[in-house]
Amino acid sequence: AKDKVEETSELEWGLLPPEEFSQVNGIILQKKTCDFWNKIWNFQAKPDDLLIASYPKAGTTWTQEIVDLIQNDGDIEKSRRASIQLRHPFLEWIRMTHCGKSSVYKLTVLANAMPSPRTLKTHLPVQLLPPSFWEENCKIIYVARNPKDNLVSYYHFQRMNKALPDPGSWDEYFETFLAGNVVWGSWFDHVKGWWKKKDSHPILYLFYEDMRKDPKREIRKIMEFLGKNLKEEILDKIVYNTSFDVMKRNPMTNYINEIKMNHNLSPFLRKGVVGDWKNQFTEAQNKQFNEYHEKNMADTSLSFYIF
Ligand code: A3P
Repeated sequence: AKDKVEETSELEWGLLPPEEFSQVNGIILQKKTCDFWNKIWNFQAKPDDLLIASYPKAGTTWTQEIVDLIQNDGDIEKSRRASIQLRHPFLEWIRMTHCGKSSVYKLTVLANAMPSPRTLKTHLPVQLLPPSFWEENCKIIYVARNPKDNLVSYYHFQRMNKALPDPGSWDEYFETFLAGNVVWGSWFDHVKGWWKKKDSHPILYLFYEDMRKDPKREIRKIMEFLGKNLKEEILDKIVYNTSFDVMKRNPMTNYINEIKMNHNLSPFLRKGVVGDWKNQFTEAQNKQFNEYHEKNMADTSLSFYIF
């Protein structure tokens, strides 16, 4: 069933209570995730599960839509069967009732009730991934984005999303992010942790910047990883339907019906470009960031273009 698209009014949004947070092994997570941590940690993955993992704002939704269209051989109608957040259950909310605006949307997204093969989503750092994913050798797609754009995108997302803490001013948030005091933990630890894991596990590690530069090449990579073989014209169709402009207009991918999001403050599909950090960072912040980045990326073979 398709969702009814209804945006939250400014008044409704303003009255929503703030989300609560807690920690699991030093990682800040929503309290509702922490409260069910035992259940999440013991989640039983199946060998044919596919997991899409990322740091928040790295291009998760984009990757999800690409994966879904590949799985459905480019069939747009099938991919528009439901909002992206319902098609791919979020591991952190696996015990939660989704409460969107329309009644159709108010259903409990329990992965256990989904037919296999399932595709799931997570923002968990690698050390918090339920062990059954490793035991069952599940395929995982991880998407990473350069930290400066990731930071800017996360800042604007926290401004508009009541499911996350109020970011405060830009200058305050800049420090919070660098210190790793954000939900789902430090960007640096996240991207490095998952990068290391790919040496011993089937992980396709993607970069947002590569997807922008040559979407068809990256979509083909995903297709091959999933063991599919689609015709050129279908690939072209997927490139078109997962472009920023098309996804921004698609109510099944633009989170328009998420009650906690105020798209007037900042739309979910905000800019979708590489290098937007240049419009946000001061010169001093850029210098500080570069120094911090150099120091914290010295112990990994993973590298990002940040200039
Ligand atoms: P911006 O805030 O920089 O615009 P996530 O899905 O992980 O929350 O990531 C959201 C970011 O990915 C947002 O970045 C959003 O605009 C961008 N994005 C989503 N779909 C995209 C697409 N089809 N092409 C390019 N960027 C996209």
